[in-house]
Amino acid sequence: MNNGSLFAEVLKQENRHNPYPLYAQLRETPVSIQDDGTYVVSTYAEVRSLLYDPRVSSDEEKNLTSKSGSGVSTSDAPSNQDSPAFLHLDPPDHDRLRSVVMNQFTPQRIYGMRLQVEELVKHFLDKCRERDQDKIDIVDDFAYPLPVTIICKLLGVPVEDEQYFQERSTVLASSLDPDHRYGAEDARRIKEAHSQLTDYMHKQIENRRQHRGNDLLSAMIASGDFEGGQISEEEIVSISILLLIAGHETTVNLITNGMLTLLRYPEQLERLRQYPDLAPRLVQELLRFEPPVQFRTRTTLADIEIAGTVIPKGVPLVLLFAAANRDPVQYNDPDRFDPDRQNNQHFGFGGSLHLCVGAPLARMEVEIALRTLVQRLQSPHLTEDVPEYRPGASLRGPRHLFVQTKVG
Ligand code: HEM
Repeated sequence: MNNGSLFAEVLKQENRHNPYPLYAQLRETPVSIQDDGTYVVSTYAEVRSLLYDPRVSSDEEKNLTSKSGSGVSTSDAPSNQDSPAFLHLDPPDHDRLRSVVMNQFTPQRIYGMRLQVEELVKHFLDKCRERDQDKIDIVDDFAYPLPVTIICKLLGVPVEDEQYFQERSTVLASSLDPDHRYGAEDARRIKEAHSQLTDYMHKQIENRRQHRGNDLLSAMIASGDFEGGQISEEEIVSISILLLIAGHETTVNLITNGMLTLLRYPEQLERLRQYPDLAPRLVQELLRFEPPVQFRTRTTLADIEIAGTVIPKGVPLVLLFAAANRDPVQYNDPDRFDPDRQNNQHFGFGGSLHLCVGAPLARMEVEIALRTLVQRLQSPHLTEDVPEYRPGASLRGPRHLFVQTKVG
């Protein structure tokens, strides 16, 4: 196949279940120019170098070719133009807003949620047990509702509004996927969900100003006040919505990809059942092996020479994290799932300035979820391998994962 059309193949739904052979072909040319003018970077050293290069921007407004034909532009996604989420900003605005969140994502706050995560995991599995069926859907019955409920608790959104929050989050999740091609109806629904959540968050902020709590929203309001109004209410709203959409489907996919991988590697499932303390290593390897965020888009602020290619200023750039994570130059036997791997410095949470803010929370949630699943699911096995996948090529994961089992 022509190297310039490989990324278009990655975007096709028919390749969603296994894009890894295409990634291997892409790695043969570390920086490859696609037919539509997109530059795709797929090897470990080059992804790392560009991730840390200040001449590479996350602000798509700076993309001079406006839209790439492959549909990887995030500018397709309706966003709050007055206050774009910091995921799509460069320094100094990025750093100012990110620090507001980082100051609050303390180990104490995250560790303090441990019990709540354990209780929720138990709650969703108890509900499956009560249904007394011999099949569960890891996605709908378990992985989908868990992270959104946790984010509600983190922000301090009232429990009775969780359903409202969850429905809109589901619609908004697709707006984060850089390869999503929006129809008019999708765009309308995303815009509507965004505007409803924006109004909702403004009301919550108003409420918190009267009754401060121990939650993230109250803390962000306090830091806004403390820093002399440098953080506007619009920015607090945009941060809250970013946390919701960045932390939801990603976590769903890591839990689901995790269970799928364990069922494909039953000896690892058995090991985790016997030695629950292996969960952190296992999750670390999952983030390399089946990362929920397969790639992210950037643009160049100057001509950049790398691996014998000059990437011109202002072109769309794809950093293929999932391909770099399986680069044989970096990893021995990269297509093997091996939780005992040493020096496993993958791009599952990105890297550099935009390194995932929610990584410690996500790790904790997924470790608890997988540990509990392997303990409580009796003789689990897949009803079909390969499962059906959601449309996202970047935010990649199964739509459902049906497992034949009884819940103990
Ligand atoms: C397994 C689950 C998760 C995965 C795999 C994941 C992955 C990532 C990746 C790859 C990035 C970098 C994006 C880029 O370079 O453009 C990122 C950024 C981010 N993530 Fe996560 N994430 C997860 C969970 C969460 C959670 C639970 C939260 C918060 C509640 C969160 C909040 C964020 C935010 C705010 C950013 C933007 C950081 C910045 O631009 O400085 N993520 N995530």
